[in-house]
Amino acid sequence: MEVTLAKTAGFCFGVRRAVEKVYEQSEGSEGPVYTFGPIIHNEEVVNDLEKRGVKTLDTEEELASLTAGTVIIRSHGVPRRIYELLDRKGIRYVDATCPFVRKIHKVVEKNSREKGQIVIVGDSRHPEVEGIKGWCHTEPFIVDSVKTAEKLPIKEDIPLCIVSQTTFNYNNFKDIVEILKKKRYDSLVLNTICSATEERQAEAARIAACVDAMIVIGGKHSSNTQKLFEICNKECKNTYYIQTLVDLDLKPFQSFRHVGITAGASTPNKIIEEVQKHVRNEL
Ligand code: F3S
Repeated sequence: MEVTLAKTAGFCFGVRRAVEKVYEQSEGSEGPVYTFGPIIHNEEVVNDLEKRGVKTLDTEEELASLTAGTVIIRSHGVPRRIYELLDRKGIRYVDATCPFVRKIHKVVEKNSREKGQIVIVGDSRHPEVEGIKGWCHTEPFIVDSVKTAEKLPIKEDIPLCIVSQTTFNYNNFKDIVEILKKKRYDSLVLNTICSATEERQAEAARIAACVDAMIVIGGKHSSNTQKLFEICNKECKNTYYIQTLVDLDLKPFQSFRHVGITAGASTPNKIIEEVQKHVRNEL
């Protein structure tokens, strides 16, 4: 049995940085430590942090009711009004917004202030997109598919500024941009897809295309893991989505000779290692 582990599997730079900040704060801060939303889409890590006293705040109301403690803003980033709320309340915060996401906030802030129409290519329900939206001075269009792009009511005289969610699929982004550019020539296109995502997706597709089975590890709510699964499944029909080793049933693997493994940006190394070792030992 040959096992190929993707080099790009697991934590990206932004997630590693955010998780490290939470562990640092859990050890060194006075008073309670909170993260606004789960720090990453990984139950194992969130549970471990909970054991160290880090609580997750799920809503803006919960955040508004705080009177003390430290709030950590996760790598997805948040709308400007969250910083304003924390400042108003005098709550200490540690900003772990990924610098690549922060850059998008600055771009949309500037371009919407200068009267451009912002288009965010991404999933409107994703917190990163909500965060980006929250830095626009005017209502942005949020486009997640070619179909939506085709229907977009774009005005003639307003320049477009197109950005994307950092974890969006590159090929879908290209197709959407092509449609928008046909509608409006005066457009500024910023491919803000993070290279960590592109590299992880490209490597996963490459591996999936030449193995008998592919294992994708990641939290079930992690959108980048879901996309990774879709990409691998296109190349290899025997693609399995697991959260941890517990979900891995090796029965169907008996006839496979070559297995590939990749993992989403919020999957800790420890879990990837466990899965890899288990597959190598058991098959
Ligand atoms: Fe940042 Fe890219 Fe990760 S935007 S959070 S390094 S996927």
